[in-house]
Amino acid sequence: MSVQPGDIRDDDDRRPPVDELLEIAQHGLGLHPKRLPSWLFYDERGSRLFEQICEQPEYYLTRCEIALMEAQAGSIADTLGSEVRLVEYGSGNAQKTHILLQHLHAPVSYVPVEISPEPLRQSVVRLAGEFPQLPLQPLCADFSKPLRLPIPPRAPRRTVLYFPGSTIGNFETREAVTLLRKMRNEMGNDGGILIGVDLKKDPALIDAAYNDRAGVTAAFTLNMLARLNREIGSDFELSAYAHRAHYNPMAGRIETHIVSRREQQVRVGRMRVAFGEGETIQVEYSYKYSLDEFAALAARAGLAVLQAWTDPAGMFSVQYLVRASVVSR
Ligand code: AVJ
Repeated sequence: MSVQPGDIRDDDDRRPPVDELLEIAQHGLGLHPKRLPSWLFYDERGSRLFEQICEQPEYYLTRCEIALMEAQAGSIADTLGSEVRLVEYGSGNAQKTHILLQHLHAPVSYVPVEISPEPLRQSVVRLAGEFPQLPLQPLCADFSKPLRLPIPPRAPRRTVLYFPGSTIGNFETREAVTLLRKMRNEMGNDGGILIGVDLKKDPALIDAAYNDRAGVTAAFTLNMLARLNREIGSDFELSAYAHRAHYNPMAGRIETHIVSRREQQVRVGRMRVAFGEGETIQVEYSYKYSLDEFAALAARAGLAVLQAWTDPAGMFSVQYLVRASVVSR
C-alpha cells in the first residue's frame, strides 16, 4: 500500500502556537526553581541531535533495546498473538518497529503516532516500501492527549500500544501513572502495552550515558535555548550556559539542568528573567526502574506485567502490560 503525505491524519492543535510557547517559557522561568518541559528539546535540530545521542558509545539505551528486540522479537510476537493492530507512541525512530513488524503474525495495521510531521512522513514512506502488505495509518498527534485512532481495515484481535525508548522515564511518577491509565483506556479490554523501560544499574554507567565525551548531549540540552530564541525571540546568550546531568540515586533518576555560568538577565517576551551565577533551569528527568518498581508503577495504573524481557547484562527491559483484571481472571 503506498502512502502519500496527504494521507497522514493530522490532529489539530498538535504544535503549540508562538504565544502558547511564550507562555510556557514565561511560566517555567517564573518558577522557583526554574523549570522547562523536556518536550521543548524536540524541534528539528533537537530531533537530529537526539538521533546522534543514540549513536554515542556511552548511550547504551538504544543499542541495548535494539539488541534485545533482535534477540526476543520472536518471543514477543508469540506473546502478542496474531492479528494485532500496532499503535506506536512517538514513532520518531522506526528501527525497533521494523524488527517487531518482521516478526508479528498477520498484523492488521500499523498506526505510528508522532507529533513532528516530517519524521512521521519519512518513516511511513520507508515502511511502506519494506512492508507493502501492511496497512499503514499514520496519525500526526500528541500522544499525551486523547487520540482519535483511525478505523482499522479489518477487526484486530487486539490493539497493542508500542512505547519504546524508555520515553516513560521522562515522566514523574504521577504523570507516568496518568499516561499509563490513558493508554489502558485506548487499548481496550483485550489490548496490551509493549513498553521499553531503562533499568537501574551502576550509577557511573548511567551518568556517562547523559554526559557523552563528544558533547552531543550538551548540544542537545542547550538547543532548547536556541529554539526559544528562534521561535519566541528570547535573547539567551548560549555561551553563557552549560549542560549538567547527574544521577540522583535516591530519586532513581537522571536530573538534567541548564546552568547559568554567570549572573545575567534575559528577555523573554515582555518578561525579564534574572539568573544568578550557577542558577539552573531543570529541563529533564530520566527515571530508571528496577523490574519490581516498574511492576508497582503499572499496578497503580490498573496494569500487570504479563512478561518482561531483559538483555543478559540486565541493562534494559521490554515489558508487555495488560489489564490487571485480565491476569487475575
Ligand atoms: C528519549 C527520553 C529516552 O531520557 O534517555 C537522551 C532523552 N535526553 N539524552 C532519555 C535523552 C538526554 C531520552 N529519551
